[in-house]
Formats: sequence, structure tokens, C-alpha cells
Amino acid sequence: MKIAILGGTGPQGQGLALRFAKAGIDVALGSREQARSADIAAELNRRISEYEGRGEIEGYANAEAVSRADEIVMLAVPYAGHDATLEAIRPALEGKILVDLVVPLAEKDPKSVAMPPEGSATEAAQALLGPGVRVVGALHNVSAHTLNLLDERINCDVLVCGNDADAAQTVMDLVGRLEVSTYYAGPAINARCLEAITPILIRLNISKKVPFSHAGIRIWAPGSPA
Ligand SMILES: NC(=O)c1ccc[n+]([C@@H]2O[C@H](COP(=O)([O-])OP(=O)(O)OC[C@H]3O[C@@H](n4cnc5c(N)ncnc54)[C@H](OP(=O)(O)O)[C@@H]3O)[C@@H](O)[C@H]2O)c1
Repeated sequence: MKIAILGGTGPQGQGLALRFAKAGIDVALGSREQARSADIAAELNRRISEYEGRGEIEGYANAEAVSRADEIVMLAVPYAGHDATLEAIRPALEGKILVDLVVPLAEKDPKSVAMPPEGSATEAAQALLGPGVRVVGALHNVSAHTLNLLDERINCDVLVCGNDADAAQTVMDLVGRLEVSTYYAGPAINARCLEAITPILIRLNISKKVPFSHAGIRIWAPGSPA
């Protein structure tokens, strides 16, 4: 299986690429500059060279990365580049699943969100791309720091939303290969909640009043160990 990660050169995209490749999945790492993603892909492959059964990470320009993906394309650019990146790759995305993990953080305050008129980045992506692309919101609340600590388990659960339940399930199956619990959080409108959790985590993580950073969220089932 091969997935694409657009904006894969940033900390979140790199962390995801490492985790998926470590799990045996090939990754087409996208960038606005092919040379940049090729350099970073080479470095990431070196970091996972010791893992048996690993997938291969290859660097491409964003549009080429989309066409290399079998079905799933992840969008990991900052919110400022969300719509323009999607506009540029729209034809290549037709028939695929877009996983939108973009959090529309407020420009000068990462402890707040500034949601688009559509309600959330996930809904904005679906409106922009139309029904030929199934948009799924996921992975908004997992920190890049955690993803990059390759020898440690991911410290949180992953909530997934989208109007097409089959597409959401496909994404949950993929993310489940990272040994995390995934939960279907309902239709795309619920991305408004999922995206808005991240600035709260950022607020906690930078607070001097709590003894941790890089926190995530976890669903606690009554009766299970705390
Ligand atoms: N970092 C985290 O811990 C974290 C956690 C949860 C969710 N997220 C979400 O994941 C996404 C990526 O986070 P990040 O921290 O990796 O972001 P980032 O480092 O700011 O950006 C990721 C990549 O996006 C590309 N990019 C930058 N500005 C762009 C623009 N205006 N238009 C198109 N592409 C642009 C760059 O790649 P090229 O220059 O190579 O094109 C960059 O390396 C964000 O939407 C963020 O909200 C991040």
C-alpha cells in the first residue's frame, strides 16, 4: 500500500511518514519543492533503516505525490496553505480519500482556532473538492513530537470523522496499523470539535501549571485501567 502525505516535509508530515513506513506502508512525501522532499525522504529512510519490513519513503512534488498514492492522501500543510494546496491538486485527487489533519489555528494565537465559514477545515475541503473526493478528518490531536519518538507508543487515541462512513473506516484501518485505538466521531460537521481540541492541548502543553507537554487525548472506558 502507498499513501501520500502533502506538506510531508514539516514535523507532523515527517512523523507520520516515519510511523507509516515503520508499519510497512510506502509513503509518497509531498512538498512544493521536489528536491526538498527528496532530501527529507532520504533522511527519514535512514532513520528507519533498522526496522524489518519497513515501507519506502520517496519525495515528490505535491501533485506527483497524489498520483503515486493508491487511495489515501493526507494533507499536512499549515492552514494558511490549505485551500491553495487543494486547488492545485484537485484533478489528481478525484476518486481518492483526502485525510485532512489541518487545524485552523488563529494566526497570532496558537491557543485559539479561527474556523473557516464552512465550519472546519475538513468541511471546507469537502466543499472545495466536491463529491468526487471523500474527505475524512483525523489525526488533529496527535503531536509531531510524539510521532517522531519512534521507539515509543503513540500516547493517545485517534478520533476520525467524515460524511462517508466507509472512507472513515478505511482511514481508521490504516491509522490502526500504528497501534493506536481509533474511534469514529461521526460526520464531517464534528470536525469542528476535533479541530478545536488541538489549541486546548497546545494551551496545556505550554502551561507552567501542568507537569507535562506533548499531551494527547484518550477515551477512557469505565472499568478499564486508568
Ligand atoms: N505539529 C504538530 O504537532 C501538529 C499536531 C496536530 C496537527 N497538526 C497539523 O498538521 C499540519 C502540519 O503541521 P506542521 O507543524 O508539520 O506544519 P508546518 O511545519 O508549518 O508545515 C508543513 C509543511 O507544509 C508546507 N507549507 C508551509 N507553508 C505552506 C503554504 N503556505 N502552502 C502550502 N504548503 C505550505 C511546507 O512544506 P514545503 O515547503 O516542503 O512545501 C512545510 O514543511 C498543520 O495543519 C497542523 O495544524 C500539527
